[in-house]
Amino acid sequence: AASEKGGWSSFMRKEVQEQPDAVANTIRGRIVDGQVVIPELEGLGDDVLRGIRRITVIACGTAAYAGMVAKYAIEQWARIPVEVELSHEFRYRDPVLEADTLVVSISQSGETMDTLMAVKYAREQGARTISICNTQGATIPRESDAVVYTHAGPEVAVASTKAFVAQITALYLFGLRLARVRGTLGDAALAEQLAELQAVPEKLGEVLEESDRVAQLAHWMADTRSVLFLGRHVGYPIAMEGALKLKELAYIHAEGFAAGELKHGPIALIEPGQPVFVVVPSPRGSATLHPKVVSNIQEIRARGARVIAIAEAGDAAVLPFADEVIRIPLAGPLFEPLLAVVPLQVFAMELSTAKGLDVDQPRNLAKSVTVE
Ligand code: G6P
Repeated sequence: AASEKGGWSSFMRKEVQEQPDAVANTIRGRIVDGQVVIPELEGLGDDVLRGIRRITVIACGTAAYAGMVAKYAIEQWARIPVEVELSHEFRYRDPVLEADTLVVSISQSGETMDTLMAVKYAREQGARTISICNTQGATIPRESDAVVYTHAGPEVAVASTKAFVAQITALYLFGLRLARVRGTLGDAALAEQLAELQAVPEKLGEVLEESDRVAQLAHWMADTRSVLFLGRHVGYPIAMEGALKLKELAYIHAEGFAAGELKHGPIALIEPGQPVFVVVPSPRGSATLHPKVVSNIQEIRARGARVIAIAEAGDAAVLPFADEVIRIPLAGPLFEPLLAVVPLQVFAMELSTAKGLDVDQPRNLAKSVTVE
């Protein structure tokens, strides 16, 4: 009903706008006196967290991309190897699980059958399990040793938006907690990362202010048949999430690639007029990666690609080569994905709208897939 949408024309439009709150509410109460406090994990005990040798993240769809983003952060902060695996692949390949493996499941609904079965399997094999979930009392948290809830609020639109940024937020809090327990992050570094995290809601508000420009772009591109997305480091999962959103919402063929992989294949797809979104890492935060991605942009532009760059405010290096530049506020490298994903969500949503499609309930999809 219209009232449930709070005046918005669709749940998705409402949920996209709620992203600053989704992040703020997920952080709320979890940073106390400069430390991360996650009471839900206390049952697990600090010595258990200290003893973990490996983390396996399991999830499906957008939640899996949240896991891929968090892998970079958790490895950097806590110095633990993290692998991310699709739930339905994990269970059927005889994975190596030991008592010092922590299995972290991510699920907005907490009911995705593929993920539930993977969690049960992991427990049977003796691994510790924690779940990141947006739905109180759902099945997956009940089947896990501990749960860290995201507080994005109910997500109704089938394709996930605000739950994604909340998942990354919860995983980052967990990663920072883990780093402290394991002594891999000093006071100053922790304070810096926490300040970055706490600044995300306001920055998300700023990104959302660019939405009209992104909408215009989507309307111009309503007849597009294929869109490519490139990203590197934490921008890589964002490229894949941008492609997934476009498939789900606008039924357009889309693929996300690691920018470094371009020359190993995908560049063959570039022909004149091909739209390519490029998630550009910050020149300040990623001094080594930024020029590599800019040179990727040059390479595809030289072959006629139409380049839409998502780049940090003030990054002038992209200007000579990009057809369009969508700006995101300055943030630490690990926090850029929380911002860069927003214009990609808005683009897919607006393209869906421009095509007259039902943005909340795309064809053939279900909000939570409760069959294997
Ligand atoms: C479905 C939805 C996706 C979602 C995925 C995982 O396929 O259409 O938007 O990312 O399930 O859902 P979960 O509830 O486990 O996060």
